[in-house]
Amino acid sequence: MKILGIETSCDETSCAIVEDGYRVLANVIYSQIDLHAKTGGVVPEVAAREHVLKVTPVLDECLSKANLTLDDLDAIAITKGPGLISSLIIGTETASVISYLKNKILIPVHHVTGHVYANFLSPMMKDGKPVEAEEPNIEFPILVLTVSGGHNEILLMTDHNEFQILGETRDDAAGEAFDKVARILGLGYPGGPKISKAAENGNKNAFDLPRSFLETGSLDFSFSGLKTAVLTEIKEYIRENFPDEELNNYEAISSKLPEQFKSDMAASFQEAVVDVLTEKLLQAYLTLKSSGTNIKQLHLAGGVSANTRLREMISQKVETLKKSGEINDVEVCYPKSLAFCTDNAAMIASAGYYVYMKNPKAFKAHSNITPTTSFDIF
Ligand code: KG4
Ligand code: ZN
Repeated sequence: MKILGIETSCDETSCAIVEDGYRVLANVIYSQIDLHAKTGGVVPEVAAREHVLKVTPVLDECLSKANLTLDDLDAIAITKGPGLISSLIIGTETASVISYLKNKILIPVHHVTGHVYANFLSPMMKDGKPVEAEEPNIEFPILVLTVSGGHNEILLMTDHNEFQILGETRDDAAGEAFDKVARILGLGYPGGPKISKAAENGNKNAFDLPRSFLETGSLDFSFSGLKTAVLTEIKEYIRENFPDEELNNYEAISSKLPEQFKSDMAASFQEAVVDVLTEKLLQAYLTLKSSGTNIKQLHLAGGVSANTRLREMISQKVETLKKSGEINDVEVCYPKSLAFCTDNAAMIASAGYYVYMKNPKAFKAHSNITPTTSFDIF
């Protein structure tokens, strides 16, 4: 079954064609990063206007890469929400028009469900060369850490499209914290990759930043205190070294910070975020284990799952716990391509496939999808 995925929930215009939920025939992503770098973050109206301009060329490129026409498709999967409403509308309208014109089944997909299914995708090209796609090896129940700019959850996935939220952020999502701290440090947008790069030359123990674990047993997250702690350290440095500087002008203060200070702060901040994400995920695993639920796979999903230090720390801790006999044989998985971590339409097409396969009669052609900003969309 060949499904066209369309994703326009934030600042990526993406169309993809995925076969049987995992074979990525094409995944075209037009990122608006350069546009939003000027403002240091996404301006919703600007993003929506750019989606209008790019959605048709991106669709054409996707069909041409897959060597298919709209008539060859079996269905269209579209991000219904959550996301920026003006951006979502462009995708849902595009999908609805194709559904009417070409008599194609329309499948609404939750954006976060899409991120989860990024782990099921298999690329068909590697380093510019064609490769054999691998069918996903799925062993439910799966524990998923979703870490992106807008969302941060620990999910228990018991079957396709069956989720239980075990923990979520009470304020900023991990990616949002990366973006805000990068902005305060004057590193640019999006913050995740910039912090990660700066951290390579930094000392992760240079600053003693707080780790917020909340109440005993809670699997929720909170990153706003960490962001404030970074700001406090920066202001202290400026106060000591540039006593006449205006402390509320972030652009001015970041320009006064030495490169080594920025790298050390980036490394210390990244370590604090990764520490909390790792601890909470393993705490969720151990809590489930003690109540008789044996998790076979830990999945990392969303933009922050591209973070090398996060992957490394989780894998290392799992290995240590395995050796000590505290945890069973559990596999750590993350998307097979960095392009599947951040927003992309292939993950939406994959989620659409599995959602559809669970109940094919629930979906029709000639239907409209109303986008929504709400997390509880279905
Ligand atoms: O999943 P995504 O593309 O969009 C949302 O659904 O929000 O995630 C974007 C987020 C941004 O906050 C970005 O800074 C973060 O993912 N990100 C990273 C890395 N690459 C992207 N964070 C940490 N390390 C990275 N390498
Ligand atoms: Zn996303």
